[in-house]
Amino acid sequence: MGAPTQEKKMKTIIEPFKIKMVEQLRFTSREEREGLLAAAHYNPFLLHSDDVLIDLLTDSGTTAMSAKQWSALMDGDEAYAGSRSYYKFEDAVRDITGFKHIIPTHQGRAAEKILFSLIGGAGKIIPNNTHFDTTRANIEESGADAIDLPNPGGLIPELEADFKGNMNIEALEALLSRERSSAKRPERIPLVMLTVTNNTGGGQPVSMANIRAVSELAHAHGIPFFLDACRFAENAMFIKLRERGYSNTSVKAIAQEMFSYADGCTMSAKKDGLVNTGGWLAMNDDALAMKARNVLIVTEGFTTYGGLARRDLEAIARGLVEVLDESYLAYRLRSVQYLGEALERNGVPIMRPTGGHAVYLDAKRFAPHLSPEEYPGQSIVCALYLHAGIRTVEIGSVMFGKYDEHGQLIPSAMELVRLAIPRRVYTQSHIDYVAEAVNEVFAERDSLPGMQMTYEAPVLRHFTAHFEPAPALVAI
Ligand code: F0G
Repeated sequence: MGAPTQEKKMKTIIEPFKIKMVEQLRFTSREEREGLLAAAHYNPFLLHSDDVLIDLLTDSGTTAMSAKQWSALMDGDEAYAGSRSYYKFEDAVRDITGFKHIIPTHQGRAAEKILFSLIGGAGKIIPNNTHFDTTRANIEESGADAIDLPNPGGLIPELEADFKGNMNIEALEALLSRERSSAKRPERIPLVMLTVTNNTGGGQPVSMANIRAVSELAHAHGIPFFLDACRFAENAMFIKLRERGYSNTSVKAIAQEMFSYADGCTMSAKKDGLVNTGGWLAMNDDALAMKARNVLIVTEGFTTYGGLARRDLEAIARGLVEVLDESYLAYRLRSVQYLGEALERNGVPIMRPTGGHAVYLDAKRFAPHLSPEEYPGQSIVCALYLHAGIRTVEIGSVMFGKYDEHGQLIPSAMELVRLAIPRRVYTQSHIDYVAEAVNEVFAERDSLPGMQMTYEAPVLRHFTAHFEPAPALVAI
């Protein structure tokens, strides 16, 4: 069924594409990087990308577009309203999601902002398996509470399990029942969300059984259910590979089934849309969609472009076809696993099994001599840049830490460093280089210094925070 994929008898899974255009990398010296990192206050978000050799900061908006996407950019009319490109985009999104209303936005957080400005607000609660940082920030900015209900196993990095991104159904049931018995229900929980794959929980997939169970539970309580669908195709491929009953189903049909249980979704097309910018908010509810379109017009743009150039909509329409190609997804998941294997061979502690878009180092076990207050993940992030020009991101107490009433850090459940792999960008030798560098930093892990935060913004502090290392950093 479907297009033929690679010969099954061959063990090496290849990139199902060849390279048509290249971008020169710039090498820097160790001495140069020391100055650059200090000038960036030991926060790699503040580095210039020209000063980075291998950029694993994010898989978002960093995709290499295909020749077909680039050529599609020219196909459309530059109209303010109702361009052909919008209808192609709408058809492509509806074909996969089945949703009635498809509202383009310039990226995922714009969809979140519109949604939560309409249904959030003081006293409301939005549960999720694990909220992404922008989702949490948009919910909290509306005055509502963002609650994470991860599967307990999802918080144990060394545990090997198939669907560690699942939501904790018992915890959701307890929350919904508690709210049902309180007089304020159903207004207090306006929506249940599920993030596929669970990015902040290690890029781990969510099973179809869990999606179905969350949907049934939310609906039994009369509450709409939305997917945060950024990495829906990678999640669908994991279902095909791991969940009983799906091995002969196409990933497209699996994705369609995933969306069929939901009433809507937010989407950053910068991930599984295979584009450099774009997103959407989709839903079946007519009244909510009308309100969302009105906010869109005020904040993003008209309803048929939503803050994008119409050419971006063309690229998404084509990207959604390419991302469901099973040869692409097999290569994608394999290339992440390949990096994980190269690290584990050297005993580097990582979140197991490897996720769809990234390898996550377990900083707690990587640098056990550092306490959460010393931000072990940030220390590893800095060491990787200094050692080999590799940019990664801390997903731990820098990103998610809060303070109690005495100003003491409430650490994040996990201290992770994410090595996110941009889609279709790096070759196997780039990944070999990354593995070599991480293994070398790991060998010197005892000299990783603690980091002190010297400046932080009130929200989403990790993007702009400043740090200072204890003196040992220069030794690595
Ligand atoms: N939801 C999830 C699960 C995400 O991973 C992201 C972005 C968003 C929502 C917001 O989308 O960036 O288009 O506004 N994640 C990127 C990352 C930034 O690096 O993981 P956006």
